[in-house]
Amino acid sequence: MVDIIEKKRDGEELSKEEIAFFIDGYTNETIPDYQVSALLMAIYFNGMTAEEQGHLTLAMVQSGDQIDLSAINGIKVDKHSTGGVGDTTTLILAPLVAACGVPVAKMSGRGLGHTGGTLDKLEAIEGFHIELTEDQFVKQVNELKLAVIGQSGNLTPADKKLYALRDVTATVNSIPLIASSIMSKKIAAGANAIVLDVKTGDGAFMKTIEDAEALANSMVAIGEQVGRHTMAVISDMSQPLGYAIGNALEVKEAIDTLKGEGPEDLTELCYVLGSKMIVAGGKAESEEEARQMLEAVIQDGSALELFGRMIEEQGGDSKIIHDPSLLAQADFQIEVPALKSGTISQMDADDIGVAAMMLGAGRATKEDTIDLAVGIVLTKKIGDAVVEGEPLAIIHSNNENVEKTISMLQNHIHITEEVQTKPALIIKAIG
Ligand code: URA
Ligand code: CA
Repeated sequence: MVDIIEKKRDGEELSKEEIAFFIDGYTNETIPDYQVSALLMAIYFNGMTAEEQGHLTLAMVQSGDQIDLSAINGIKVDKHSTGGVGDTTTLILAPLVAACGVPVAKMSGRGLGHTGGTLDKLEAIEGFHIELTEDQFVKQVNELKLAVIGQSGNLTPADKKLYALRDVTATVNSIPLIASSIMSKKIAAGANAIVLDVKTGDGAFMKTIEDAEALANSMVAIGEQVGRHTMAVISDMSQPLGYAIGNALEVKEAIDTLKGEGPEDLTELCYVLGSKMIVAGGKAESEEEARQMLEAVIQDGSALELFGRMIEEQGGDSKIIHDPSLLAQADFQIEVPALKSGTISQMDADDIGVAAMMLGAGRATKEDTIDLAVGIVLTKKIGDAVVEGEPLAIIHSNNENVEKTISMLQNHIHITEEVQTKPALIIKAIG
């Protein structure tokens, strides 16, 4: 291990065997934290070649179980978002793409941060259960083309250990380490093709377009190196996505979008990512053709109906798709008035997300419990005009005293006198 650390410290390239050696040793606890910490810091400073990243990813995949989706007919396409504020796309994309014939066998996670993850959101649907055995999962995807469940098995234990170590050694923020961490989990989850939504901006992990692009390029290169067709879209997270931020509120927003009545940005992002998934899944020749298919399954209601069938199959109350008021509702809905007239120039996504978390919509630590009903529904986006006293957002809270949240939102939704253009949603597509 000392030789490996020295090699990376001196800027040399590690071999496949050397990478497998340290990942195996760290997983089996024969290599101590202090040596791996030193290696991580050397990687942080010296980076990794595309080949090294591919080897690291595969070594982490092989450290644990891998999901075998071969019993599911067709090309399985997965999607991953690097995370943002109010990102409800999975709830929409999964039924949307499945309704076009691409099997969606999705394993999702819980959230840490502004709001819950996809699993938390699904649990806002009464009775919905996210635990299926592998056999039930495969059977449901073969029958419905769609299942969204929690992670089962022991996937990428090496990544879990490494991530915890990175967290306490200031080595999280390394593009090769982030790219291999994300890709190891996607590859272990078994899909043939992967579509990545890499967010950039205030509410994202990657604050600049340059970093987002570097991360996207690394992940696409890793995917192609290990034989999984991988594509990425870089999308804007300088303001929250859609209007709703909060678990039950985002389920409602997803239902609206599946009805064709969703926010413009969220709908567009679903079309862009969905088109790539359908082409990757072999159901359309071009993204233009795929987009027409997506529009058709929204128009004829089949995507929404499929969402309802998945809910039913997984024990939930599918009546919510026609009556979202059956979802958990907060006791109070309180308006946030604009303090002056003008145009919305900036919405600090990260701080708006924190405001939602403070209401109880998200977890600050893993042990926190989420209040599924609460959150924020914006009424404006960047570029919209506003008149003094008009609401900028509605706070959904189970506590009447929300003065602090009101002033936070007033401070972080900026209003100017100049005309503002709306930021571009899709910054770039790669692969
Ligand atoms: N998300 C991950 O899954 N891994 C990282 O390293 C960073 C973000
Ligand atoms: Ca949203």
